[in-house]
Amino acid sequence: MKVKIIKLDDFGRGIAYLNDKICFIENTLPNEEVEIKITRETKKFLEAEVINYLKKSPKRNEDICPYFSTCGGCNLFHLNFREENDYKKVKVKNLIEKFSNLKKDIVKEIYFHEEKNYRNKITLHGKNKKLGLYKKGSNEIVEITECLLVNEKINTIIKELNQANIDIQEAIIKTSNDEKFSILKITGEVNDISKLKKIVDVLIINDKLISQQDTIITQIGSKKYHESADSFFQVNQTLTKNLYDAVLNKTKEIKPQKVLDLYCGTGTIGIYVSDYCQEIVGIDYSKSNIADANKNKELNNVKNIKFICDKVENRITDFKDINVVIVDPPRAGLDSKTRKNLLRINSDTIIYISCDPVTLVRDINELSIDYEVESIVLYNMFPRTHHVENVCILNKK
Ligand SMILES: C[S@@+](CC[C@H](N)C(=O)[O-])C[C@H]1O[C@@H](n2cnc3c(N)ncnc32)[C@H](O)[C@@H]1O
Repeated sequence: MKVKIIKLDDFGRGIAYLNDKICFIENTLPNEEVEIKITRETKKFLEAEVINYLKKSPKRNEDICPYFSTCGGCNLFHLNFREENDYKKVKVKNLIEKFSNLKKDIVKEIYFHEEKNYRNKITLHGKNKKLGLYKKGSNEIVEITECLLVNEKINTIIKELNQANIDIQEAIIKTSNDEKFSILKITGEVNDISKLKKIVDVLIINDKLISQQDTIITQIGSKKYHESADSFFQVNQTLTKNLYDAVLNKTKEIKPQKVLDLYCGTGTIGIYVSDYCQEIVGIDYSKSNIADANKNKELNNVKNIKFICDKVENRITDFKDINVVIVDPPRAGLDSKTRKNLLRINSDTIIYISCDPVTLVRDINELSIDYEVESIVLYNMFPRTHHVENVCILNKK
């Protein structure tokens, strides 16, 4: 069957129509003509894979990762990086047009950095001494010797693990942003730990700490942060500074008295802006995040920040006279109770950091009852995937 690709969907899949029925085809680009095989048919849509490329797009990137067609890690390696950035910007503009009453010109520029080797973290899965990433939508393991998204240090550790001949179920590898320090957390059967001990700074095997230290230190701008195996840390080792600088610049401009840092993770953003506000409260429900946040407060000698370990929705009503609220929720965005409570808090400014523009648009549309949306700036923190980070500034009307 021969089809022409019309456009990309929000997940980076090509869209074609077969007898007016929408068909999603991975690894295709607009205007390409391909021969396909249908792999799934439902009442509403079809899914297909390419058997043969009849006409390729000039925007196609031929320098593709060898695991691209099998591993579920990336879905935009086949598109030139420049075009990828444009695609993400257009995608957010389209979401605004489709799902909100806002104007799409609130979307400003997209910042980007390296297209490869930008990640400071990977989670590998293993079975019967095979180690790799899951095949898309399955638990089948695609064995890898390297990943083009992670930094060089992580790839060196992956090679060591492959040579170590151990039966690993899961391996989490993290490094500091300068790639000097590393963490390895393994679940599995490890008989000889001596070699692993030499290659990483923090070693945890089956939840037992083997190394002396349980955290590594990463520097972002003028601040230093403890990072542990289980706590949240932004994965893009260069662009995170630009993202945090956007929040810092707005804070410098406002010089607020009271700031709430909701979904604060290890307290990184609150601490980053702490020199320019009087008082900050950070909230996150993860115990390991808040343990690291308190260590980070000490490490940077910050006196005006306090952290609470609880769900945001349980504590958001405890505060008043807040000038700035920073929110950085997971992909699900803000729940409806939190959206309503944010309106009740009535701060002058909300800085909304989001890793999913779909939920961001839903949330800011509701907040726009009382807030003017100043801008959305995009940060391509996840090159070669369809994901994009957004910073949205909202000012009280
Ligand atoms: C995208 S991360 C933000 C981390 C942080 N701002 C940073 O830049 O490192 C989202 C955080 O929200 C936390 N979280 C998720 N749901 C939550 C909830 N309902 N209440 C409190 N924290 C939550 C997670 O533990 C995670 O640390």
